[in-house]
Amino acid sequence: MEFSYQVLTIVVDVFLALLVITLVAVVVMYIIDVRQTEHAVRRNYPVIGRFRYLFEHLGEFFRQYFFAMDREELPFNRAERSWVYRAAKGADTTVAFGSTRDLRPTGTVLFVNCPYPTLERDALEAAPIVFGPYTANPYETASFFNVSAMSYGAISSPAVRALSKGAKQAGIWTNTGEGALSPHHLEGGADIVFQIGTAKYGVRDADGNLDDERLREIAAHDQVRMFEIKLSQGAKPGKGGILPGAKVTEEIARIRFIDPGQDSLSPNRHPDVDNNAELLDFVDHVRTVTGKPTGFKCVIGAYGWLEELCQEILRRGVESAPDFITIDSAEGGTGAAPMSLIDYMGLPVRESLPLVADILSRYGLKQRIRLICSGKLVNPGHVAWALCAGADVVVSARGFMFALGCIQALQCNRNTCPTGITTHDPDLQKGLVVADKAERVYRYAKAMRKAVGVIAHSCGVPEPRGLQRLHCRVVQADGISAPLDELYPHPQPAEINSAAAGS
Ligand SMILES: Cc1cc2nc3c(=O)[nH]c(=O)nc-3n(C[C@H](O)[C@H](O)[C@H](O)COP(=O)(O)O)c2cc1C
Ligand code: SF4
Repeated sequence: MEFSYQVLTIVVDVFLALLVITLVAVVVMYIIDVRQTEHAVRRNYPVIGRFRYLFEHLGEFFRQYFFAMDREELPFNRAERSWVYRAAKGADTTVAFGSTRDLRPTGTVLFVNCPYPTLERDALEAAPIVFGPYTANPYETASFFNVSAMSYGAISSPAVRALSKGAKQAGIWTNTGEGALSPHHLEGGADIVFQIGTAKYGVRDADGNLDDERLREIAAHDQVRMFEIKLSQGAKPGKGGILPGAKVTEEIARIRFIDPGQDSLSPNRHPDVDNNAELLDFVDHVRTVTGKPTGFKCVIGAYGWLEELCQEILRRGVESAPDFITIDSAEGGTGAAPMSLIDYMGLPVRESLPLVADILSRYGLKQRIRLICSGKLVNPGHVAWALCAGADVVVSARGFMFALGCIQALQCNRNTCPTGITTHDPDLQKGLVVADKAERVYRYAKAMRKAVGVIAHSCGVPEPRGLQRLHCRVVQADGISAPLDELYPHPQPAEINSAAAGS
């Protein structure tokens, strides 16, 4: 009896000691988690946030039995996200043993390596290109991978600030999205593309019409280098937006020139742009008022109108052309969109990019109108494909969201983003430490630049913009790959130049 009592006492003592140690450990971990600045999830969910990293690690061993494989998830699979996370952390981006990418499905992109790759000593930085050669302030940039439109409103102020600072460090541009220019965009000092959405936030009068004086004020910022008229967005073509009154804070109302606390409706297109002629008039008006390169963004569905647009440009003269077209993919992202549009509307960029590049080439406008494209182009192979297919520049929204720490929780429309990116809840925003995430944005952009260079060198060209369609092949339905330049025969740059020069 005496003996069993003693054993019981020891067991209880050990249990109590373990309990105390556990409690102390939890308190210590709690303090470490809320004080560290690196991981938004741990800052916002101290202690339990650690399980995410544990499960992520264990997933490598167990997911083959229970969970999705590396290449299965959508919108972005684990392999795609992991590359961004590792690049953004400055960690090793090499992988071991062999590729988990299945090279057999139709549509698989392969690059054509050269027997004599470019030696490191012959490698070059990407060549600069000029936007808006006929404007008073042409924009020259060498950057081929930049931040796509995301409005302040859809994303939080710390997210905008981190993007701005990181972009400046990386020498790339950011895009305001349709939510107007905020001090947060200017803070880091990066180049900015100002987007004019259908509600013309930030450059509107009380009735939602374009206000030239406000447009001039925006253009007066040296950092604002170009203007992008948004016709449509890949995730929701033909749909405007509602910014609920609850989200229209005093600050957002002041920046957008709308009433605080009131629902704000974006029309589903610019009411003053009804056809190609009016589109060119609008581009010309914005460019004349601002003196800066001006283009438009759209997702391609119907494309006959593009042929007519080119014909109208040639009738008016090449100066009248938009300085760029941004093609967004049907697979594009958004803060919120109806499922009917996000799932079904428009063409994916893998179809629309070569199609638009060919239309511009056919009319001799490929050099005059710079082609920017977006849509799940977040890894080096995606970006290199786009450069081969005809893009001058690739932009990404969600790639940079991953760099900011997005874990694809898919709650961007609920104000509950666990990483502080798409929420206005100050408690959750605390997780996103601007200095740390800015560094990640910089590292991601830098790693992308380098890795696309590596693909170019392997193809035997000294710099990424040297990539052409002949460097890329696409697996066909019969399982055999065909070269991109045979699938989309493309006029040679010499012909394009001479046509653009009017000879
Ligand atoms: C949170 C969020 C907000 C966005 N806001 C805008 C916007 O204001 N204007 C716009 O043209 N596109 C907007 N987009 C679309 C992106 O700019 C981009 O075109 C699209 O997501 C495709 O790029 P990605 O696949 O790299 O994300 C937004 C996307 C996201 C994810
Ligand atoms: S809600 Fe989820 S998907 Fe959206 S930004 Fe936040 S972590 Fe990423």
